Amino acid sequence: MPHAGTVRKADYHELLLQRYARRLSRRVQGLDGPARAASDPSSWVSQRHRDYLLEATRPGRSAAEWAAEQEVLRRLFANDERLHAATGILYELLFERHPHFRSLFPQSLAVQRARLGRALSFLLDNLPDEAVLGPALRRVGEEHRKFGIKPVHFEDFGDMLTEGLRRVVGPQWTDEVERAWRLAYWRGAAMIIEGLEQAELEPPFWNATVIDHQRRPGDLAVLRVRPDHPYPFRTGQHTTVETPRMPHSWRRYWLTTPPAPDGTLEFRVRALGGHGVSAMLVHHTRVGDPLRLGPARGGLTLDPASGRDVLVVASGTGLGVARALFAELAAGADDRRVTMLLGFGTDDDWADLDEMERLRLSARAPQRLTLRPVSGVASDASWFFEQAVDGWPRLADHDVYVAGSVAMTRAAVRILGQAGVPGEQVYRDRW
Ligand SMILES: Cc1cc2nc3c(=O)[nH]c(=O)nc-3n(C[C@H](O)[C@H](O)[C@H](O)COP(=O)(O)OP(=O)(O)OC[C@H]3O[C@@H](n4cnc5c(N)ncnc54)[C@H](O)[C@@H]3O)c2cc1C
Ligand code: HEM
Repeated sequence: MPHAGTVRKADYHELLLQRYARRLSRRVQGLDGPARAASDPSSWVSQRHRDYLLEATRPGRSAAEWAAEQEVLRRLFANDERLHAATGILYELLFERHPHFRSLFPQSLAVQRARLGRALSFLLDNLPDEAVLGPALRRVGEEHRKFGIKPVHFEDFGDMLTEGLRRVVGPQWTDEVERAWRLAYWRGAAMIIEGLEQAELEPPFWNATVIDHQRRPGDLAVLRVRPDHPYPFRTGQHTTVETPRMPHSWRRYWLTTPPAPDGTLEFRVRALGGHGVSAMLVHHTRVGDPLRLGPARGGLTLDPASGRDVLVVASGTGLGVARALFAELAAGADDRRVTMLLGFGTDDDWADLDEMERLRLSARAPQRLTLRPVSGVASDASWFFEQAVDGWPRLADHDVYVAGSVAMTRAAVRILGQAGVPGEQVYRDRW
């Protein structure tokens, strides 16, 4: 029996879930009013920043006004080198002046700096375009919840980032630049905070235990894990994983099976060398080890309402999610034709293909399912996609799923756009 006043781990998680359920129910009933949003910053931003934030989120602020700020900023940041340099200064200053921030970040900041630099560049590139910025930055905000970030962090972070940019730019940093940048920062920050608050309705992470760990050729490992609570996800999504061996470093891995009745999850990891999370998961993780999983995300989910034929193009670790998609498509009772174009590299595991063939043969109408493996495809090969869809009949009538490296995904989006496939029929994850 637990001591009075103490809470067993299972009870604690039960209480947490009950709290989420209550909060969700109050939100749905409107008892909490609209989600606390960046428009009501009084509790977490000082007067010095509030005016910028209010101006950056003023509903009537036009795209033309934002285009003017964009021009001021892009003149100074024509390429991304200065942004990247400023992120280095940001972390130095942040940890020196506000040491409590250090514990939120992983030991190595290389990946984080690159991601932040890309996000800032994206912000400047799309500053006037709320329809592009909003969804992407809200997603970034959702991810920040599991990092333990709160709205109150954005002020000091913004100040140190601004100081970094000011130092990099030198005498060209004028009052006009300062104002344009502060507005741009709070425009992005407000969207991120909105995503952060939206994500309050779900647990920030799940504790899970590794129940199977199998090594495959090519520094690949297949991991099966059991979350300590039901983990909701849809076929085609990815999870994010943190290992206690590398606290605060989260990496994404596609779930390679549809939701299983026993609640276990499977994903594959290819060790990329060095001392990254993937190397830890492949070489230094064993059955019984604990992991943390962030909420499932991703754009490779099937649309049950679509009657269109499906084309899945996958290579490298994307083959894992292709396998999950195929399992669900093969089990479906509709008449959509499904073609899988699968690029196998020298290191890839052909066992997946045998399994897909078994699923195909046991499907209701196997003739509607086609498997087309291609060998000799390096995981970042963009030519594979180009060749794969070249001359593909009625491409624009398909739902196209793209799962592979950044290079392949970029090539796919370009080629599908040129071929007239509407954007909403192209399913992919953003890197
Ligand atoms: C949507 C999505 C789904 C993903 N699914 C999977 C999956 O199912 N399985 C899987 O193994 N990975 C997957 N990844 C990649 C994964 O999230 C990590 O980026 C990868 O495991 C590297 O993390 P790391 O911490 O080991 O390496 P990092 O610390 O990020 O880098 C370590 C070393 O590897 C190098 N490196 C980093 N990325 C690459 C790369 N892409 N190619 C070559 N070298 C690189 C770095 O330069 C560095 O030297 C996915 C990524 C995304 C965005
Ligand atoms: C405009 C402001 C910000 C932008 C554009 C931004 C952008 C990003 C991006 C793109 C990522 C990677 C997300 C992912 O891996 O899914 C990230 C991660 C992270 N951010 Fe932010 N962020 C901002 C503000 C903040 C603030 C205020 C904090 C508070 C300290 C913060 C802390 C973190 C941490 C701890 C990570 C994880 C680091 C890692 O895993 O390496 N960010 N941020």
